[in-house]
Amino acid sequence: MPQRLHLAKEPSTASPRSQICDSRACDQPSIESSLFRHACGAVPTGVSVVTRLLDNQPYGLTVNSFASVSLKPPLILVCIECRSPFLRTFTQETRFAVNVLSHAQRAVAIQFASPCADRFVQVAWTGGLHGVPLLSQVVATFECKVWRTQGAGDHSVIIGLVKNAVLYRGAPLAFCRKDYCSINSGETH
Ligand SMILES: Cc1cc2nc3c(=O)[nH]c(=O)nc-3n(C[C@H](O)[C@H](O)[C@H](O)COP(=O)(O)O)c2cc1C
Repeated sequence: MPQRLHLAKEPSTASPRSQICDSRACDQPSIESSLFRHACGAVPTGVSVVTRLLDNQPYGLTVNSFASVSLKPPLILVCIECRSPFLRTFTQETRFAVNVLSHAQRAVAIQFASPCADRFVQVAWTGGLHGVPLLSQVVATFECKVWRTQGAGDHSVIIGLVKNAVLYRGAPLAFCRKDYCSINSGETH
């Protein structure tokens, strides 16, 4: 018998301060949130590390919310938890990068999802456009300028205009049902 998800009632009107974070959904009943999490977790995704400079230091976190949005102009999005330092001092001028991890970078995914003091320890990286950290041995990088931000519940949707993208050989890291795997050899082009 499939489990059913009953949606909470629609949140009320939009608040004008919803650009970065919008907490309207927080007073919705949290019932069935575990089912919601598990259902979302059944969707296979790639795994990326989104990076930026924060107080002139490299900063990054693991995400699986990356998606392509538009070809013309080239837009991508990531969803970032509102409490994340990633959103600190975040403005229209902020530059960031999405580093799509390879199947050999499971440890990197774990490190950038952990509360460790320096997530860049033992991770090779270089400074890209505007010094934004670009990780080595990834399968692709997207260097972005902020296009739009939209608060959405406990996350913020960050849409980036892609200023530079690089594609490398190799199989991407994938994530599904709380486990990592790889998708293919990545050698088809
Ligand atoms: C596979 C995976 C995917 C994740 N995806 C996201 C995501 O899309 N957005 C997000 O805000 N956090 C995501 N996280 C959680 C963050 O990586 C994790 O909470 C991290 O510690 C946040 O760091 P921060 O407190 O420096 O922001 C993900 C974690 C894992 C392991």
